[in-house]
Amino acid sequence: MRPLIIIGASGHGEVCADIAKLNGYEKIRFLDDDKTIRCCGEYGVVGGTADIAAYADSSDFFVAVGNSRIRLCMTEKIRECCGTNITLIHPAAVIAENADIGKGTVIMAGAVINPGAKIGKSCIVNTCSSVDHDCLVNDYCHISVGAHLVGHVETGVHVWIGAGAVVSNNLKVTGNTVIGAGAVIVKDITTAGTYIGVPARKVK
Ligand SMILES: CC(C)(COP(=O)(O)OP(=O)(O)OC[C@H]1O[C@@H](n2cnc3c(N)ncnc32)[C@H](O)[C@@H]1OP(=O)(O)O)[C@@H](O)C(=O)NCCC(=O)NCCS
Repeated sequence: MRPLIIIGASGHGEVCADIAKLNGYEKIRFLDDDKTIRCCGEYGVVGGTADIAAYADSSDFFVAVGNSRIRLCMTEKIRECCGTNITLIHPAAVIAENADIGKGTVIMAGAVINPGAKIGKSCIVNTCSSVDHDCLVNDYCHISVGAHLVGHVETGVHVWIGAGAVVSNNLKVTGNTVIGAGAVIVKDITTAGTYIGVPARKVK
């Protein structure tokens, strides 16, 4: 396997590196624009995002940045440099045979993705979350730790479902929306914003 460059030397990056190692990557290094960060766990930080082009011929890439706009921007940079953006799937995730997982997405340990579900590009399906049958999770979404999308849920782009939140079945969550930790969504969300509580209400 080629070496892997992970962009974003955070705790999230370290979890992604752990998954990459389990996926067979042996040589893993990081890029981060914060020059004070020298390492991420056991892995070295070898430069910033200006160095993407220098690694594009020799290494694969993964963008491990929580902010979905920055994730989009970094993904574009990799594409402009003709780099290869990979998908990471933890071996302890349970993924239906016909589920579709987009490029640049990470599926973490204990996540369950059920039949007919489609996960877009550069998404994060975090630890022990679930995306049930026939859900559509659009590009650049984050399904946080322990969050659950029940069957036939659809999210627009750049949706962040907070830790432990639940979206009930057959509902749509419009793009650019944040669902707070622990919220329960029981109606379609048609206006972008931040929603918290049980049942969820708009706060921003
Ligand atoms: C909803 C959220 C985005 C709001 O963040 P914020 O704009 O910085 O809001 P604040 O922390 O300033 O809180 C504003 C108020 O909302 C309340 N609040 C914040 N998040 C809440 C939540 N999830 N549920 C209920 N109330 C919440 C705060 O207690 C505070 O109430 P107060 O004004 O009475 O003191 C954030 O709290 C949240 O839930 N983020 C998700 C975190 C997460 O799931 N991370 C997972 C990583 S895997």
